[in-house]
Order: sequence, then C-alpha cells, then structure tokens
Amino acid sequence: MADTNLYPVSEAIAASAHITKDEYETLYQESISSPETFWAAKAEEFLTWDKKWDKVREFDFVKGEARWFDGGKLNVSANCIDRHLAERGDQVAIIWEGDDPSDDLKVTYKEVHEQVCKLANVLKTRGVKKGDRVCIYMPMIPEAAYAMLACARVGAIHSIVFGGFSPEALKDRIQDSDCQVVITADEGVRGGRKIPLKANADTAVAQCPGVSTVLVVKRTGGDVAWDESHDVWYHDAMAEASADCAPEPMDAEDPLFILYTSGSTGKPKGVLHTTGGYLLQAAMTHKYVFDYQDGEVYWCTADVGWVTGHSYIVYGPMANGAITLMFEGVPTYPTAARCWEVVDKHDVSIFYTAPTAIRALMGQGDEFVTQTSRKTLRILGTVGEPINPEAWDWYYKVVGDSRCPIMDTWWQTETGAHMLTPLPGAIALKPGSATLPFFGVEPVLLDGDGKEVVGAGEGSLAIKSSWPSQIRTVFGDHNRLVQTYFSTYPGYYFTGDGARRDEDGYFWITGRVDDVINVSGHRMGTAEVESALVLHEKVSEAAVVGYPHDIKGQGIYAYITLMVGEEPSDELKKELVALCVKEIGPIAKPDVIQWAPGLPKTRSGKIMRRILRKIAANEVDALGDTSTLADPTVVDDLIDNRENKG
Ligand code: WTA
Repeated sequence: MADTNLYPVSEAIAASAHITKDEYETLYQESISSPETFWAAKAEEFLTWDKKWDKVREFDFVKGEARWFDGGKLNVSANCIDRHLAERGDQVAIIWEGDDPSDDLKVTYKEVHEQVCKLANVLKTRGVKKGDRVCIYMPMIPEAAYAMLACARVGAIHSIVFGGFSPEALKDRIQDSDCQVVITADEGVRGGRKIPLKANADTAVAQCPGVSTVLVVKRTGGDVAWDESHDVWYHDAMAEASADCAPEPMDAEDPLFILYTSGSTGKPKGVLHTTGGYLLQAAMTHKYVFDYQDGEVYWCTADVGWVTGHSYIVYGPMANGAITLMFEGVPTYPTAARCWEVVDKHDVSIFYTAPTAIRALMGQGDEFVTQTSRKTLRILGTVGEPINPEAWDWYYKVVGDSRCPIMDTWWQTETGAHMLTPLPGAIALKPGSATLPFFGVEPVLLDGDGKEVVGAGEGSLAIKSSWPSQIRTVFGDHNRLVQTYFSTYPGYYFTGDGARRDEDGYFWITGRVDDVINVSGHRMGTAEVESALVLHEKVSEAAVVGYPHDIKGQGIYAYITLMVGEEPSDELKKELVALCVKEIGPIAKPDVIQWAPGLPKTRSGKIMRRILRKIAANEVDALGDTSTLADPTVVDDLIDNRENKG
C-alpha cells in the first residue's frame, strides 16, 4: 500500500536545492550521532549571537527539562531585522495582501526596523520590561508582526490570542499569563465581514485588573468604546516614539512567547518557547523544508494566532531575510480563485496551507485554479492534519501542475517547528505521508507496553531526545508539562498522535490518540467544548467527540443529556451552539447535536468515548465489546437516534 504512489525528487529542484538526498542522509546521521557538533555549526550559520553559548544542549526527559545554547546571548528582533539591514534594508520584508483585493502594501526591512523600534519604545513607555507579558489580539495586518518583534526587542513575552476567540477565551488567556498590555485593533476584516476585536477586548479586559494599557490599531475606523484610563491609539503613541531602540540582550533560554493550546483535559495550556533554540529550528526548517532561495516570495496562509503563523510567517522567514506574504482574508473571498490570483499578483514561489483549505477549494471546481497562471509556484506545503490522497492529488496536479513537490509537514505547537517532513531536493514523496524526520529529530513508535516498535509497524508517536525548538514548560505549571508529555511513556516526549511506519521508514500520521480533535486545522480539546455545553442550565451531561467531516477533516459531534423534565428542541440546540461561540469562539460550534437520554458508561461511571466516536462516525457495526457497560441498552437508543446515517 505504502509504495503504490512514489513521487521521486524532481531533478530540476534537486539541481539547486539547499539539501540533496546524499546531504540529507549524511547530515541526518551526523545530527543524531554528534548533535553537539551538528547544532553548534547550524547555530553559527543561521543566527547572529552577541555572545557564544557555553553548552549546546542539556536535557532530562524525566523532569521534562531542556536547555539549548545555554549562556549564549542574542536578540530575536535583531536576528529578524537589524542584521539584514546592511545587505537588504531596501528589500521587501512583508507583502501585505488585504481582505479586499485592491488593498495591499509592501514593507521593506528598513521600514519594519523603524516600526518595530518605535513600538518597542511605546511598550517601554507603558512600563513593559524584560520578562513582562503582552497579549496580542490582532487581525492579520503588519502591525501584528511589529507587535511580536517589538516584544522580542524589549525582552517581553508575547501571548497571541487568535482573533476568532471569544472575549471569554481571551480573558482566560490574559489572566493565566498575567498580561499587562493588550495590543489589538478596532476591528478585523475577513471575507468582507468585520470582527469587533476592540469590543471583545473591552469585555475581556473588564475582568482583567492587571491590564494597564490597551493599544489599539485603527484598521477600519469603526466605532469603538473608549476608556481613557487605559486605551491608547497605536498611531498616536507611535507618532511620539523615537525610532531608536537598542535590542535587549537575551539569554538563549529566556522566554520568547507563550501560546495557548488545547489538550485532553482542562483549560488550554500556555506553551512556552524560548529564544535561541526556537529561532534556530524555525529558521532552519523554513530554509530547508521550503528550499527558500534569496528573493523568493513565500506565502504561509496561517493566522499569526496559531503556531504556524509564529514560526512560518514571522520568525523563520524573517530570520532568513525572506519576503513573507501576510494575507488578511480568506481563500474563498471574493471568489475561490483568490489564493491563485494572489500567487500571480505577487509572484509567489512557495505556498503553504492546511488540508482543510485545499479540500474546500477542491469542492469549488478546477476553473477557479486553471483560470490563473501560477507559473511562479515552485514548492507547496501542508500542515495541521493528515492530508487525504484525493486532496493531495488535486493540490499536486491542479494547483501545482504536477511540477511542485508537496511538503507535508508534521509538527505541533509544542514542537515549535517542523519535525517530520520531506525536503524538496532530497526526499521522494508519498501522498499522505509526512515522510522522514528533520535533522536532529528522533521519532519512535511505542507499542501498548511502551516498547519501541522496530522497523515497519504502528504505535504511539513519541520523540526520544530533545530538539532545539522544544516546549520548555507550561506557563506557571511545570508539573502539567511533565504529566501531559513526559509521564505516559517515561523517558520520551509523547506527542498525542498515533502513526505507522512503512518499509521505507516513512511515517504516516493516523491522528490523535487522545481527546484532542482537529477541526479545520484548529486544535481543540473535547473537554473544553463539554465544559461550555454543561454551563447551560438545562444540560445535565455533555460528551463531545470528533467525527470524519469532508471539508473540516473532523467535525464536532456533541451528545447531550438534559436535566430531568427538560424537553429537547431546535431552540435549545441553537442556545447550545451560541454558548460554545460565547465561551470559546465560532470555531467551537458543534456540527451535530444528538439528544442522549443516557451515555454509555462503565460500571465505574467512565464514559466510553470509543463507542460514541463509532456512532458519530456511523460505524455502528464495529462497536466492539459493550458488555462492560453499566447499561448496554443506552447504546441501542443512541444508534437508533444517531444524526449521521450517511
Ligand atoms: C496534527 C499545528 C498529520 C497532529 C502545527 C498534531 C498533523 C496536531 C500534521 C498539532 C500533518 C499537524 N499530518 N497531522 N502534517 N501537522 N498535525 O498544535 O495531530 O495546532 O498533533 O500545531 O495537528 O496541532 P497544532
């Protein structure tokens, strides 16, 4: 099965690639057998250090500790901006493409430098110092990148909250990391619709006494409420700020950012990344995985609110002095041709997106693609979820005209950068496989007993040794880090994903083995959605599972048990959906709600999710053993009344 579809490395690409097949093999071996030598050389090659490190790496997977380039000093904003000025100050750094196709902007490295220095000074004026936390709740506009880099410049830790999250979710995140400044905009614009970011921030900040400044970028000029005690117009503050700001020298292990992500249980965790190792792996993967060549226009369609936007819109590309395209809109606005029109308009060479976007566009028909040229495209990429062979094929043949290799990159918020991925000039492709490990990454598959699977086989995907951009801690709760990632299989980092390895050593991700679901590439804990649903006074219990969804990859399927005496109704369904939107955001809307008079539980009261997943997926003939259930008849009722019979 694995080898039916092998796409060899294109000779045209290999001819000029940064890494060829032989180089990959030699360097990968070296990265595993002599990690210190390998990474020291790469750290010199990719980054500019104010002071060299004392020790390349140190880690302890029992305690969940990792330190890279300890004793070294560098500043991320200096690495992403200042050091490029002499050679490429007048080169474009950011191409901004607005939601409206007539709106765009090009910003050079020199201009980015000026904006970031000014904003860094604004932050200082507002009392922000090294180690302080700043929340960024922004649309996809260049100011979002300036905000990130300005934090890095003064040594503040940014925590970006995706603009699609609700005020409630924003409040939780501001409180958890105790942010004192929030940077936002009056409104965001996506697909012709406005998103009331400032109003959302107002609701959140009303419950966050620790916030002393809300800096507001004027994006639309829409009406906003104003609280003189902490609201400040970005442009007013910038007009008064000096463009002179020396970067704060940071230790390699000083925190760079916190990014909240969902797990199996509880509220989202603040994943903490640090400075040196993170930037190195982000830069190195950006250059090698996309085979980025000087002067090329590179476009990652993610939002900066997700880790992909952090590593592959801002930090990786800018550390490499690349031209990075930032898109405010959505792939289907004004039409499903938008992405390809943008590719032609800006001569994009590298295009990186999520399978869910590919499936959505595929459903709109080929003409939207074929009416454009796309002749500048050289490399394609995907991230976020397994890509089904049909979507891969369409992406390869229709979008890439069978000319552009697809980099299927597997990684996580916690890994900070690519972990399993092809390299364009080195690794032959198999549709649906993230192929082989990146340099320095030691993936293993663990069986039910926690033993390493040798050769071809299947198991839980874990990582055996530290990599530079590894998560360092869960903000404020290191024990949670150890419990979540380092205790299931002692001595290993456990990813939460299952995977298969074929005879060629290629990895095939089979999806999460925990209660995390992946909806349109957005990662969500089923427990978070359940917590929102049970807030409704008529709900007694809620169980949420993922189920296969044609476009989203996974949809949200919620089983709801009502309080005694309450009646199901369509009205109530609407209220429950609204509750999820309020508590989390529109991305958490259940696709299906099924009324469940009872849930399948073991005699000890544990909900058997395996059964709920099967019913949601309409795989009712394969329920497996139900004899351990306290009341097996509840299953029959759920099957009879299932919503997905297609
Ligand atoms: C999934 C996104 C299959 C996986 C960068 C992982 C993938 C989770 C792939 C992390 C891929 C990511 N193939 N599955 N190429 N990339 N995933 O933290 O389940 O938002 O654990 O990071 O997405 O999601 P996160």
